[in-house]
Amino acid sequence: MRIILGVTGGIAAYKAADLARSLVRDGHEVQAVLTRSAEEFVSPVTFASLTGKKVLTNLFEASAAIEHIEVAQSNDLMLVAPATANILAEFAHGLAGGFLSTLYLAFRGPMILAPAMNTNMWDHEATRANLDTLRRRGHVIVEPGVGMLACGTFGVGRLAENDAILDAVRRVVNPTLQDLKGETILITAGPTQEPIDPVRFISNRSSGKMGYALAQAALDRGAKVVLVSGPVALDPPRGAELVRIQTAAEMRDAVFAHLEVSTAIIKCAAVADFRPATPAKQKIKKSGAPVTLELDPVGDILAELGRARGARLLVGFAAETDNVLEYARRKLVEKNCDMIVANRVGAGLGFEADTNEVLLVMKGEVIEVPQAPKREIAERILSQMIRLRQPAGVAR
Ligand code: PMT
Repeated sequence: MRIILGVTGGIAAYKAADLARSLVRDGHEVQAVLTRSAEEFVSPVTFASLTGKKVLTNLFEASAAIEHIEVAQSNDLMLVAPATANILAEFAHGLAGGFLSTLYLAFRGPMILAPAMNTNMWDHEATRANLDTLRRRGHVIVEPGVGMLACGTFGVGRLAENDAILDAVRRVVNPTLQDLKGETILITAGPTQEPIDPVRFISNRSSGKMGYALAQAALDRGAKVVLVSGPVALDPPRGAELVRIQTAAEMRDAVFAHLEVSTAIIKCAAVADFRPATPAKQKIKKSGAPVTLELDPVGDILAELGRARGARLLVGFAAETDNVLEYARRKLVEKNCDMIVANRVGAGLGFEADTNEVLLVMKGEVIEVPQAPKREIAERILSQMIRLRQPAGVAR
């Protein structure tokens, strides 16, 4: 495919060089276009050597005014990474002050935009409105991640990881890319509730958002999904076989009832580790005296799956407040998993939030996925599972 790679002026512009290299590696013909401000950060020579093509930079160069029409007509897809607030505004309003924005108006193919900017600029009403306009036009927006920004602040605005941008390109190049077709993925999500009496229970803060995002992403990529879910306030993803459970024991039974049909398992649920030894049949009445609850340990479903998995891919999660990597590595071995998705949990982290930040811990490899919407995290987990399926040495 012939791809226009637009690069605009931001500190993340240097990451576009690696993007250009990966696109060429994936077999694409890449036409790099640098805005005037991008040239302040990166040199056209870098992109010319990586793509093997002259880099287009200035509308006012001789012949460039005609060139934008020719470039627009001879390419199949346009990707802008990083896309500044300014270029989003120019695109949204149809301003044609530079080569890239002129090209945008002349181009008729699919557009992918990977914004990067300061958090306040990203949150600004004007930027939100411009993004809404661009989304309504059907453009794909690869959401920025959260992290330390060039301006020294921490927040949303960091250019998405190149892997996420490349995944977006793959899905646009092949909209019916069903890279999980043939898989039946058993996903557990949400909390469990362990009754104390008919009206009380022990539970945790899991909202189900991470597990449901995984289920939706897997469905979109062609997998069949069995979603074993604890009580959550989310709409079930359409197309998933939903099995609602309340307790850890019910989750265990539902998981093992569907083990035979599954080709991969993702244990995202936050399962109880302890349950009241003898739940009361009637509501426990308060008497003013202290109440002692005796708790029994709950069997570890993931560990049991580790013994029964056969050739299935097995992905566990690890929710830790400290020593995240060390505990995740231990779980990987002890529970016989292919991958542990480790997340730090605590105030505003992991549980309930719309974003997450994880380590994908595998035998001999750890991948850090910076803070991003849970859907984006889900895509990265699934892409990594696909890589684990491939024989060693085969790169995508
Ligand atoms: O639902 P959200 O609000 O979106 O939050 C997402 C999340 C924080 C719940 C999720 O990202 C996450 O971390 N899930 C795992 C939570 C957990 O129970 O972690 P753990 O470290 O206690 O357990 C490790 C693994 O063993 C998990 O895969 C868990 O499903 C599994 N387990 C635990 C206990 C048990 N009795 N049986 C199990 O199978």
